[in-house]
Amino acid sequence: MQQRGRFITLEGGEGVGKSTNLEWVADWLTSQGIEVVRTREPGGTPRAEAIRELLLSTECDEPLDGDTELLLVFAARAQHLAQRIRPALERGAWVLCDRFTDATYAYQGGGRGIDASRIGELERFVQCGLEPDLTLLLDMPVEAAQRRLQGRLAAGGQSRDRFEREHLAFFEAVRQAYLARAAAAPRRVAVINADAPLANVQAQLTACLDERTRAWR
Ligand SMILES: Nc1ncnc2c1ncn2[C@@H]1O[C@H](COP(=O)(O)OP(=O)(O)OP(=O)(O)O)[C@@H](O)[C@H]1O
Ligand SMILES: [Mg+2]
Repeated sequence: MQQRGRFITLEGGEGVGKSTNLEWVADWLTSQGIEVVRTREPGGTPRAEAIRELLLSTECDEPLDGDTELLLVFAARAQHLAQRIRPALERGAWVLCDRFTDATYAYQGGGRGIDASRIGELERFVQCGLEPDLTLLLDMPVEAAQRRLQGRLAAGGQSRDRFEREHLAFFEAVRQAYLARAAAAPRRVAVINADAPLANVQAQLTACLDERTRAWR
């Protein structure tokens, strides 16, 4: 019988290098002979990407209620799991996802102040026990990550989305919530120091992947 694939997530605040390093991690796994599906949240399927638009857009003046935001995040996740993540894992592919439920605890929990127990209810409802096998948490001070984002904007990146317009205190709360998640689940979550030259971050990622995935291959 085909062995189920592994589910790896990349997490961290804005500008820490998730998208940059996702490619590195995918290439490393591919070099080990593993079939990799790269994806992201919110989004990852056409309908889930449409929900992402609703979540990130700054075009509408109407405030987005915190509970609505939380439900939209999990609605997108339900679609993503059903259409893309679970089928890939079942056929034996490994799924590499840019953000997942730790981001919900960090942004909607730490950032917006929604109680973790409410997030947990939806997590159980939508995921039915599925969680990442490994989470790579890219961590760095908020101010330094903000400077990177400014560099990306200056280089012609997209304008700031609804989350990127938040204030430093929000991002600090997001960072602390991520670190608390890592402390509570050290076997699943590896904290990577992202405040380092890219080659150094990549060396940390490779060392971590090599150690943690050895038993799975
Ligand atoms: N180790 C690094 N050192 C210096 N710059 C970096 C490093 N890693 C990424 N960058 C740069 O920082 C910027 C942000 O990186 P990236 O877009 O990968 O972050 P992200 O975590 O995906 O952000 P977001 O949460 O907004 O999606 C980019 O311009 C990228 O080239
Ligand atoms: Mg990104």
